[in-house]
Amino acid sequence: MVFFLLAVLSLSALGSADRYLQGTNSNETEAIAFLNRYNIESRSQGRVGILALWKYMTNRTETNKNAEIAAYQRFDVIQKEVWRQATSFAWKNMTDPLVRRQFQRLAVLDDDFLPKEEHAEFFRIAAEMEDIYSQAKVDNLSLDPDLTRIFASSRNADDLKKYWVGWRDTTGKRSGASTGELWREPYESLTFEDDMAEQWEILRPFYLEMHAYVRMKLVKLYGEEVVKPDGPIPAHLLGTARTFGHSL
Ligand SMILES: *[C@@H]1O[C@H](CO)[C@@H](O)[C@H](O)[C@H]1NC(C)=O
Ligand SMILES: *[C@@H]1O[C@H](CO)[C@@H](O)[C@H](O)[C@H]1NC(C)=O
Ligand SMILES: *[C@@H]1O[C@H](CO)[C@@H](O)[C@H](O)[C@H]1NC(C)=O
Ligand SMILES: *[C@@H]1O[C@H](CO)[C@@H](O)[C@H](O)[C@H]1NC(C)=O
Repeated sequence: MVFFLLAVLSLSALGSADRYLQGTNSNETEAIAFLNRYNIESRSQGRVGILALWKYMTNRTETNKNAEIAAYQRFDVIQKEVWRQATSFAWKNMTDPLVRRQFQRLAVLDDDFLPKEEHAEFFRIAAEMEDIYSQAKVDNLSLDPDLTRIFASSRNADDLKKYWVGWRDTTGKRSGASTGELWREPYESLTFEDDMAEQWEILRPFYLEMHAYVRMKLVKLYGEEVVKPDGPIPAHLLGTARTFGHSL
C-alpha cells in the first residue's frame, strides 16, 4: 500500500515536472529582458493578427482570407521561437514569482506541435469553416439575420426543429477534437478537472431542479408530444434559448 502510494506520488510529481520545460540559463536579468521583449512584441503581433481577422470577418474575400492566414502563420512562427527561447532559461529557480509565473505560461510542453505545412492546412480549414457558417443557407435563409430571428421568436416546434436540424446538416457536425489540455492550461492548476468535478457536485442539485423547472415550462408551451415530461430537453427548443436569448 505504501509502495503504491509512493508510486502514485512520484508519478504525479513527474507529471508536473515534465509539463513545464526549462533550460540551463539561470541569469535572471537576461530572463527579465527576454520577458520584456516578448511582452512588447506579442502585443504588436496580436494587434496585427486581430486587425487581419477583423478585416476578413467584415469583408469575406479571398484576399482578406489569405491575409488572415498569413498573419496567423507569422504569429505561429514567432510563438515557436518564443517557446524555444523561454525553454532555454532555468526559470523554475528564479527569485521573482511573477517571472516564474510568466515562464510557466510560455514554457508548457506542447506535444502536438504540428509541422509548418500542417499548421497552414489547419488555418485554411478553420477559415473555410467560417466561410461555411457565414454563407450557409437553409431554405434560402442565412443564419444572420433570418435564422437567428426565427430561433429567437418562433414558438412553432416543427419550424424550430426543421431549421435547427437543417442548419446543423448544412454546416456539418463539428468534430470534438481534443484540445481540452490546452484549454485548461490558462487556469494554472494541475488539479483543474478534479476541482471542477467537485464544484459540479455542489451545483448538481440546483441544476437538476432548474432543468425540471425549465422542462415543465416547455411542456406547458409545446405539449407532452414535443417535450417528454421525464425526458431530456430537445436541443432545438433550448439550444435556441441559450444562443439567442429566447425567454420562456
Ligand atoms: C547576467 O546577464 C547580464 C546581461 O547579459 C550580464 O551583464 C551579467 O553579468 C550576468 N550575470 C551573471 C550573474 O552572470
Ligand atoms: C474588401 O476587400 C477587398 C480586398 O479583397 C477590397 O478590395 C475591398 O475594397 C474591400 N471592401 C470594402 C467595402 O472594404
Ligand atoms: C535550484 O535551486 C535548488 C535549491 O536552491 C538547487 O539545489 C538546484 O541546484 C538549483 N537548480 C538549478 C538548475 O540552478
Ligand atoms: C432565394 O433568394 C433569391 C434572392 O433573394 C431569390 O431570387 C429566390 O427566388 C429565392 N428562392 C426561393 C426558393 O425562395
